Amino acid sequence: MAEDLNIAKGDKKTQYESLLPQIEALLTGEPNLVANLANIAAALKEQFNWFWVGFYWIIEDELVLGPFQGPVACTRIKKGRGVCGAAWERSATIIVDDVEKFPGHIACSSLSKSEIVIPIFKDGKILGVLDVDSSELAAFDATDQVYLEKIVAMIP
Ligand code: SME
Repeated sequence: MAEDLNIAKGDKKTQYESLLPQIEALLTGEPNLVANLANIAAALKEQFNWFWVGFYWIIEDELVLGPFQGPVACTRIKKGRGVCGAAWERSATIIVDDVEKFPGHIACSSLSKSEIVIPIFKDGKILGVLDVDSSELAAFDATDQVYLEKIVAMIP
């Protein structure tokens, strides 16, 4: 496909509906994981302009920073630590409306106010997480969860 993203306007659902087939096209025929994670992070950042969008991958017993868009971030997170480590431990999506109220939240930046972390599974095994941070409180809801879970399920 052309490398230009078509940025949709409108409500959140409209934006995701426009983005989904474009992400699918970006992933089609590309088996390289780093390339695919990098393009997903870039596409999400371009469409929604969130503060930070990126991946942490499980390597041995830690989450290790992967492709991302946004300010520099912590490189390693242990299981159960922060929102990312909690999503890994629970194997479940976590939405945090106010990161200051999440016990153990890892503050990579004081500008981050709310967060959603989506676990990534392959053949029933958790491989990593998608982490999205917003500079606004309560930026994420069930719509984000549904669509971001669909997006990570597309990773070949
Ligand atoms: N806040 C995350 C750490 C990663 S950064 O936000 C990029 C957490 O508590 O897991």
